[in-house]
Amino acid sequence: MCGIIGYTGPDPALRVLLDGLATLEYRGYDSAGVVLVDDRPGAPAELAVRKRAGKLQVLVDDVAGQDLTGSTGLGHTRWATHGDPNDRNAHPHVSGDGNVAVIHNGIIENYADLKSELLANGYTFRSDTDTEVVVQLVAALYDRAAQSGEGSPLARAVRIAVKRLEGAFSLAFVDRREPGVIVAVRREAPMVLGHRDGASLLASDVAGLLAHTRDVEALLNDQVAILTADGITVTDLDGAPASGHRFTVDWDVADAEMQGFAHFMLKEIHEQPRAVRETLLGRTDDDGRIVLDDLRVPSEELRHVDKVVIVACGTSFHSGMVAKYAIEHWAHIPVEVEIASEFRYRDPILSPHMLVVAISQSGETADTLAAAAHARAQGATVVAITNVVGSSLAREADAVLYTRAGPEIAVASTKAFTTQMVALEILALYLAQLRRALFPDEVADHLARMHALPALIEEVLDCERQMADLAQTVARARYVMFFGRHVGLPIALEGALKLKEISYLHAEGFPAGEMKHGPIALIDEGGPVVALATRGHVRSKIISNIEQVKGRGAVVLAIATEGDTEIKEHSDHVVYVPDVHELLTPILTVVPLQLLSYHVAIALGRDVDQPRNLAKTVTVE
Ligand code: M6R
Repeated sequence: MCGIIGYTGPDPALRVLLDGLATLEYRGYDSAGVVLVDDRPGAPAELAVRKRAGKLQVLVDDVAGQDLTGSTGLGHTRWATHGDPNDRNAHPHVSGDGNVAVIHNGIIENYADLKSELLANGYTFRSDTDTEVVVQLVAALYDRAAQSGEGSPLARAVRIAVKRLEGAFSLAFVDRREPGVIVAVRREAPMVLGHRDGASLLASDVAGLLAHTRDVEALLNDQVAILTADGITVTDLDGAPASGHRFTVDWDVADAEMQGFAHFMLKEIHEQPRAVRETLLGRTDDDGRIVLDDLRVPSEELRHVDKVVIVACGTSFHSGMVAKYAIEHWAHIPVEVEIASEFRYRDPILSPHMLVVAISQSGETADTLAAAAHARAQGATVVAITNVVGSSLAREADAVLYTRAGPEIAVASTKAFTTQMVALEILALYLAQLRRALFPDEVADHLARMHALPALIEEVLDCERQMADLAQTVARARYVMFFGRHVGLPIALEGALKLKEISYLHAEGFPAGEMKHGPIALIDEGGPVVALATRGHVRSKIISNIEQVKGRGAVVLAIATEGDTEIKEHSDHVVYVPDVHELLTPILTVVPLQLLSYHVAIALGRDVDQPRNLAKTVTVE
């Protein structure tokens, strides 16, 4: 969850670190800090640490005008796990002897045992974090490491220390006795490296490197990297040469900038036509058949899949719910969709004939990674749907189908969601094609309909003024309920998730038919209910459910299909979306709900892109 950045090279490191942290702040914003190795001539090198609770801007204001020198350093934005989000617990942490500093993303699960051991040996601690244990341990091992072997003693001390750590972590260290050197290590938490023009960098994700290079090396589990201005050396934990996973990112630095929009979320909502277009690009051959070049599973294997299991978290889980309808309807394969954090701790009955689809925008969500690993260990083939090339999920799955949404910076996921649904529906059609569950012309017709989606999303975006007006009313509500049936259900759940995460209003989504089994008791006079009521085989049932809540005082906003004038008789407000195939409606109906959430959050003065308590990439359990 935390954002980490490291730089060693010819330039003053402070500017590079602060700029890098600005691009990584979406990973956590409880505190921010930097350490510089101040090695000005004529004096022993010192570590200069500045760290402050709160947003990055607090740190930026704090260091403005300070004499912070050094061309090697580390920076960190924190999403607190162990210890309150205060100055003391902010990273970097420095060893008691003042020699070593560390930044950390993840959790050291055995920190309590290690801390007791260090306390017994006379070490003292200044923070409540698990991280401080690591830096004390490395400092304790340094002298021994310095007496054995060639090269960086810091790297050797880190290798020894890491063998004693349990948990998921990426860590980066500097030592004042080795100015110009950064040592990094990772286990189950992301760390990417880059080198350009006499400078080496590390970051917790590629967004932090984009301003410098698009050629990236992802460190693999239990690999240690030594960064100097001249280059990067990677070893395993025994010091043997190794190499990470090298790839080139096709994102542009401008893709990770706001480009005139007031917030990243708004920009990303408006990028959806382009993102969907990109995700559809090049998926067919000259005969109109689907070809999935990035899906490296033999067709024969996919043809014989007898069950699909989808695992994901949050918004990605909702796209998995949409996929269930598409795969079952088009490919005639039974589908189960499960929250990754639940799947990973039960004993699912899996077989080699099952296909597990793991969905994750970031490709770094700890629970989704663990669920995918759990499935692979039991012989299932795992296909990843992810937005990030080179991410852990992309590397560890048997095959990948990339969404091509470009960097998603806002914590609230929008364009990743629509592109996930598109990618999953392409997968559904591909399976249908392989199994001959659809005729080729049917597959071609569905694809043609999908290619019309970008222009239709463009049309839906025109409802923004209407949603901004409605947001003024919704913002005054005590609660907001969303309901839908069939593919409307995942959108109801997603609408509620979006609203609660950025506006902090109590919002819940329900299957419309379940309302009368309990949730309807919540309805009181004027309570807003959002109903997914587009044309389809369950529309008349939804109308009945709308009547049931209206009869109890609800004010209903219906998301309906253009031309449906009758719906106005049943609802107080209607937002229309174009008429499309029923299975494609979620890709349109979610857009007004994203805009509604955005404008409610604005009306309530919330921090839209960095809502409280959350972080973009959830790399801890
Ligand atoms: O990167 P992932 O798709 O694995 O992330 C999963 C969830 O953490 C994510 O979708 C989260 O629910 C969003 N903040 C929702 O907007």
